[in-house]
Amino acid sequence: MTSPPEPKPGILTISPYVGGRSSVPGVAKAIKLSSNESPLGPSPKALAALDEAKSSLSLYPEGSGRLLREAIAEVHKLDAARIVTSGDGSDALLTMLANAYLQPGDECIFSEHAFLVYKIATLANSAVPVIVPEKTTNSVIKVDVEAMLAAVTPKTRMVYIANPNNPTGSYLTREEMARLHAGLPDHVMLVIDAAYSEYVTAKDYEAGMEMAVRYPNVVMTRTFSKLYGLAGLRIGWMYASPTVCDVINRIRGPFNTALMQQLVGCAAVRDRDHFWLAVKHNSQWLPWITAEIRKTGLRVDDSAANFVLIHFPPDGAKTAAKADAFLGQHGIILRAVGNYGLPNCLRMTVGTEEQNKLAVSLIQQFMAA
Ligand SMILES: Cc1ncc(COP(=O)(O)O)c(C=O)c1O
Repeated sequence: MTSPPEPKPGILTISPYVGGRSSVPGVAKAIKLSSNESPLGPSPKALAALDEAKSSLSLYPEGSGRLLREAIAEVHKLDAARIVTSGDGSDALLTMLANAYLQPGDECIFSEHAFLVYKIATLANSAVPVIVPEKTTNSVIKVDVEAMLAAVTPKTRMVYIANPNNPTGSYLTREEMARLHAGLPDHVMLVIDAAYSEYVTAKDYEAGMEMAVRYPNVVMTRTFSKLYGLAGLRIGWMYASPTVCDVINRIRGPFNTALMQQLVGCAAVRDRDHFWLAVKHNSQWLPWITAEIRKTGLRVDDSAANFVLIHFPPDGAKTAAKADAFLGQHGIILRAVGNYGLPNCLRMTVGTEEQNKLAVSLIQQFMAA
């Protein structure tokens, strides 16, 4: 017997990514508040573009995502030449950055409760994840800039930061992100994953655009999966220096953003009315959910995104696992976040008015029982 081909070192230590559950056994139509999807769905204009795109399915798309890059550049007042799009979400861009810049043995820094893809992308390149503890201040679990900087060694090549972070919902201010960047050597890439940036209304927040415009070692990644309500269509983009874009353009798939994705993305990003509707919906329900759940005595962290992190007691009758089971029986699916190092928490996505009210009243019932 010959032995099978071996993957690169590190790959077999990866725990495959598991998405949010979408069904509960015995429940016909569960309400999924586990994947931070938009309760408003996509813009009607994006849906119309999807219809139009049908006629072009037999043709290869233009390879560089030009239509979509130009639409994004127009809306955000950016240089289209410094945008790279992806037809496999921003996940694919986060991964390609690691593929392009991490060599075996290099160190990649991210925080304790960071998005799981960072670890997967690091290990897939036989690089070393350096996981930095977060700190809790005023009941918010947050990236610790000083600790991140203290973790930098001569082997550090990349730092990933989700801003706001999933699943904690906390964010680094413009000033904190600038402090982090200022402390990094020029050859270290700072990847700012701004998947939830569209939801943030805080004045001291900046998505990473300004820094990506200015510094060749900063990349900002964005997605159409969250506020734009297009998680199923898998469209992402990044903004970076011409040098970094050139590198990623060499390794991405030659037609990595389908024409259908480009056309829908163009319509979605240009529909500012739908955009503001989604921001308004979130700004109305996020504080309501937070306040109502807090009334039960549970800790709910302040969130800047479209979800909240709810803390349950570690043992007894009111644990996160028991709450998850109770809500599941009643057709509400939240996200257990044990694999993010938060075994006593559940993450709840902001849903429609009806979904929010139902989920909150069930949490209240669970706590009162
Ligand atoms: C922090 C963060 N970054 C990136 C993504 C990936 O988004 P996409 O659908 O664009 O791959 C997610 C999705 O859950 C996320 O939470």
